[in-house]
Amino acid sequence: MKKHILVVPGDGIGAEVTTVGKQVLETIAQKFGHEFTYDEALIGHVAIEATGTALPDETLTKMKSADAVLFGAVGHPKYDNDPSAKVRPEQGLLKMRKELGLYANLRPIKLFDELLDASSIKPEILRGADILFFRELTGDVYFGKRERIDEGNTAYDTMIYSKYEVERIVRKAFEAARTRSKKLCSVDKANVLESSRLWREVVQAIAPDYPDVTVEHQFIDAAAMLLIKDPKRFDVVVTGNLFGDILTDEASQIAGSMGMLASASVGDNTGVYEPIHGSAHDITGKGVANPLASILSAALLLDISFGLKEEAQAIIDAVDAVLKAGFRTRDIADANTPEEKILGTQAMGDQILQYLTA
Ligand code: IPM
Ligand code: MG
Repeated sequence: MKKHILVVPGDGIGAEVTTVGKQVLETIAQKFGHEFTYDEALIGHVAIEATGTALPDETLTKMKSADAVLFGAVGHPKYDNDPSAKVRPEQGLLKMRKELGLYANLRPIKLFDELLDASSIKPEILRGADILFFRELTGDVYFGKRERIDEGNTAYDTMIYSKYEVERIVRKAFEAARTRSKKLCSVDKANVLESSRLWREVVQAIAPDYPDVTVEHQFIDAAAMLLIKDPKRFDVVVTGNLFGDILTDEASQIAGSMGMLASASVGDNTGVYEPIHGSAHDITGKGVANPLASILSAALLLDISFGLKEEAQAIIDAVDAVLKAGFRTRDIADANTPEEKILGTQAMGDQILQYLTA
C-alpha cells in the first residue's frame, strides 16, 4: 500500500514522541511491504514563532493532501499565564479540527494488565476496563460565540449544538457499539442545559435504528463519579466537546497515565492521530517523555485511516510485550520497577522497534 503521512510534531514533547511514532510507522511499512512517504509541518507555538500564526496555510494545505496526519501536541506555558494573548497555540489545534471537519474524536481507554498498579484506582475495580469515548470535536462551547462585554467586566461563551452535529457523532458511536458489547452511554447535562436536551432528543430519535444496542443516558456529573467508582460499567460513551474533554482526562487515570492514551480525530477529511497528553513543557527536551501514546496513535492511524488491522495489532502486541518484559518510562514506573528498566523516550521506542523487527 502506498500512503503519504504528514508528521506535525507541534510543541514541547510533541517532537520527541512523534519522532518515535514515525519510526514505528516506517518499521511497519518495511515489515509488511508498504510504501509510506512523509512530510512535516508546523503548528502551535513553533508555528507562531516562525510565521506569526498558529496554523499556517501551508500546514493546512499539506494536511488536506496527506492520507493521514501523525500529530504531537500544542501549547506553551507562556500563554497559560497570559489570558490576554491574542494569538495562542491552541488556536491552531481548534482551527485544524474545524477546517478538516474532524467532528469525531475517538479516545480508547484500554488498560494494559501490567499497568494495573500504575493507576491510583484499586486493581480490582480496574481490571478489564475497556472504554471507547466518542467526543464531539467541532461544536459546543469551543466554537460558540464568545465575548467580553460590560467594558470587559463580563464574559460569556455559548454552548451550542445543531441536530446534524449531534446526529453524525452519535451514529458513529452507535456503529462502534454494535461491534463491541452493544452498550452505549450518552453523557449530557439535560437537567439544566437546553443544548443537552437537544442532544438527548437526537440520541432518543436515533436509538430505534440500532435496536441491538442498549442506550443509557447519564448526566456529566454522575458520569464523572461512575467512571471512577465502576469503570467496567461503561463500554462506548458518546458526549459533547467540553464534557468529553474533561471526562477523557479523568478516564486517562484508568489507563495508568496520560502517557499511554492515543486518539483519533476523524470526519470529512484527512484523519489526525495524536496522544491525548499535551506538550508537557516541564519534561521537554529531557528525553523522558513516554512515546507509547504516539506509538499507539500510529496504530490507530493504520487501523482507521488505512484499514491495516493486522499492522495496527502488531503495534499493540509490541507495546504489550515490552510492558510485559518490565520496561517502563518514568510516568508508568512504580516503586517496584528496577531502575535499569526505566527507559527514556528513544530507548522505549527502540524496545518496540526491536520487538517489531524480531
Ligand atoms: C485536548 C486538549 C485541547 C482541548 C486543548 C489543548 C485546546 O485538552 O485535545 O483534549 O481542549 O480540546
Ligand atoms: Mg483535553
